Amino acid sequence: MTNRRVALASRPSGMIEDNNFQLINEEIRELDQGEILIQIEAISLDPAIRGWMNEGTTYIKGIEIGAVMRSFSAGKVIRSRNENFKEGDYVEGLLGAQTHAISDGKGLKVLDMSSGKLSYHLGVLGMPGMTAYFGLLRKGKPLKGDVVYVSGASGVVGSTVGQIAKIKGCTVIGSAGSDEKCKFLIENCGFDYAINYKKEELNKKLKEYAPDGIHIYYDNVGGETLDIALLNLAKGARVIICGAISQYNNMGNIQGPKNYMKIVTARGLMTGIIVFDYVEEWPNAVKEIAGWISDGKIKVKEHMVHGLDNYVAALKMLFTGENFGKLILIP
Ligand SMILES: NC(=O)c1ccc[n+]([C@@H]2O[C@H](COP(=O)([O-])OP(=O)(O)OC[C@H]3O[C@@H](n4cnc5c(N)ncnc54)[C@H](OP(=O)(O)O)[C@@H]3O)[C@@H](O)[C@H]2O)c1
Repeated sequence: MTNRRVALASRPSGMIEDNNFQLINEEIRELDQGEILIQIEAISLDPAIRGWMNEGTTYIKGIEIGAVMRSFSAGKVIRSRNENFKEGDYVEGLLGAQTHAISDGKGLKVLDMSSGKLSYHLGVLGMPGMTAYFGLLRKGKPLKGDVVYVSGASGVVGSTVGQIAKIKGCTVIGSAGSDEKCKFLIENCGFDYAINYKKEELNKKLKEYAPDGIHIYYDNVGGETLDIALLNLAKGARVIICGAISQYNNMGNIQGPKNYMKIVTARGLMTGIIVFDYVEEWPNAVKEIAGWISDGKIKVKEHMVHGLDNYVAALKMLFTGENFGKLILIP
């Protein structure tokens, strides 16, 4: 049997390029005692992968040159020499961008497929959904009547943040990069307002939709967007730094907030979230989100790309905005 994998060939110095990656075919070795072989059926493409391609980040080591591209992936156990996993189990974890993975089972989750289909366990019920849940609820502490603004709103993190905020009785404003994405936020996700930041004036629109200011700003974008959000804070506002996709390809020239003194005048709080800090609590959050999905309170949008050969083109979509919903590669 053959495994096909995407390996890191070189580190990018800005936007990712085709030559940063290499597709490799290799024979699958025999399993040792304690190991399982997984046939991967879905690979999650996340903005964080761009950071993992650097030498190292503050919370996780960079991918080694030659190693398989790190990814949360999900698939079926097709051989098992580990008593904790049986053939036919569906599992999810950091299994990489490849068709098959051998694992000793550490860090792998056996999936409860009754809570959602396989791809959901990489999105709304997986790491990004957990980011939305813990970032908003633990860091933002939304109160009924709060005005919540979320950027990068059409992605899995942003759309889940906005929909949980609606469940909590907040007024929700989202920004995204196309009319189609904005329409989805209003019509499917129940957002109160959506701003196409590519053609509307963000500051003007925020002032119109939140005349008394924003209580929670959930930042997925950073840069100019963060600065404009800071100009519009209500008293006691919480600013949650979740990501800064506008800055991930900026090497050594990251745009920091100029307007940070607005935190002082708002008597506000600016804080970060790393989803892995809440791993112990993920199972309960998965149950709660799965319940909201089955009650129709959370809508999910996915964007599937087929074929490992399309890995690079698909990964680039996250930085051009071509993806619309949780980006999943079917190998
Ligand atoms: N802290 C954590 O633990 C943690 C965990 C998971 C994810 N995150 C962060 O959460 C954020 C959202 O992740 P996701 O998986 O839901 O991604 P996503 O929103 O599905 O995909 C990225 C989106 O970002 C937007 N974008 C790209 N470049 C941009 C720019 N220069 N300015 C404004 N928007 C831009 C694009 O949409 P538009 O069409 O709207 O431009 C693109 O579709 C990311 O920043 C990610 O790093 C953090």
